[in-house]
Amino acid sequence: MKLLIINGPNLNLLGKREPGTYGNQDFQSYYEELQEKFPAVELDHYQSNIEGEIIDKLQQAEGNYEGIILNAAAYTHTSVGIGDAVKAIATPVIEVHISNTAAREEFRHRSYIAPNARGVILGFGLQSYELAIQSFL
Ligand code: DQA
Repeated sequence: MKLLIINGPNLNLLGKREPGTYGNQDFQSYYEELQEKFPAVELDHYQSNIEGEIIDKLQQAEGNYEGIILNAAAYTHTSVGIGDAVKAIATPVIEVHISNTAAREEFRHRSYIAPNARGVILGFGLQSYELAIQSFL
């Protein structure tokens, strides 16, 4: 089982950024824990702050992964382009969020990804990624 995690803008700052909302752990150390927890899963991780790069990565992932775990961060709420890319590829995408976006500001309630995702996991902290991996097993 080969899965790709794609993280969007500002998620490179996890651990430092708004720890009250996103926690104290950086993604790299969590990613290492994930690799240990799921030795049978071949995991790749890609992070970009650039919308078009995320679209390129989604397109390139098709055929190379059995699933994609996507936290498009702020682009979730604004990017028709990322939503269209998720729709365009046959690879199943799980949308994840660290925080419970439904309990936050109104502008975070809209997702351009959710209508084309296999499912959505939000509000479990970094554990949201782990739950997404489990959904593929
Ligand atoms: C986020 C939620 C988004 O609204 C926000 O812009 C982020 C992170 C989350 O994982 O909780 O950057 O996707």
